[in-house]
Amino acid sequence: MKFSFARALGLSALFSLAPALPSLAQDSNAGRNLAANCFTCHGTNGNSAGGVPPSLAGRDRSELFQTMKDFQSGKRPATIMHQHAKGYTDQQLQLIAAYFAAQKPAPARLPAKASY
Ligand code: HEC
Repeated sequence: MKFSFARALGLSALFSLAPALPSLAQDSNAGRNLAANCFTCHGTNGNSAGGVPPSLAGRDRSELFQTMKDFQSGKRPATIMHQHAKGYTDQQLQLIAAYFAAQKPAPARLPAKASY
């Protein structure tokens, strides 16, 4: 059999990739990295500006996960969230829910003092 340089390269690429896979699951930043996709609307670390859309920081983990599942299935109506929810696996949603649940909710802001 003729030695194929390309095949040898392909094989070594495959083997060098293999050890990277388990470490991906152990990445302690995985939840935050996934949750960063939500920051634009739900605020940095899950505290949205003025609470619109609702803040996610410090919310119950399983409730957040279930809400995402309900967006996925269409059980819960949405304007945009069903599209976001569909992009994630259950494992990713668990990581995202755990991340937001662990964030500190920002103190509620009092309305600006009225001046008469
Ligand atoms: C483009 C803006 C946008 C992005 C990005 C976004 N959301 Fe939302 N989110 C909304 C809006 C708007 C609602 C209100 C429901 C609706 O109309 O879709 C909402 C509602 C929710 C709710 C329900 C909150 C409640 O108390 O009713 C959860 C949970 C949620 N989003 C989680 C997430 C997660 C997790 C991500 C990231 C994967 C994310 N969202 C990304 C805009 C966004």
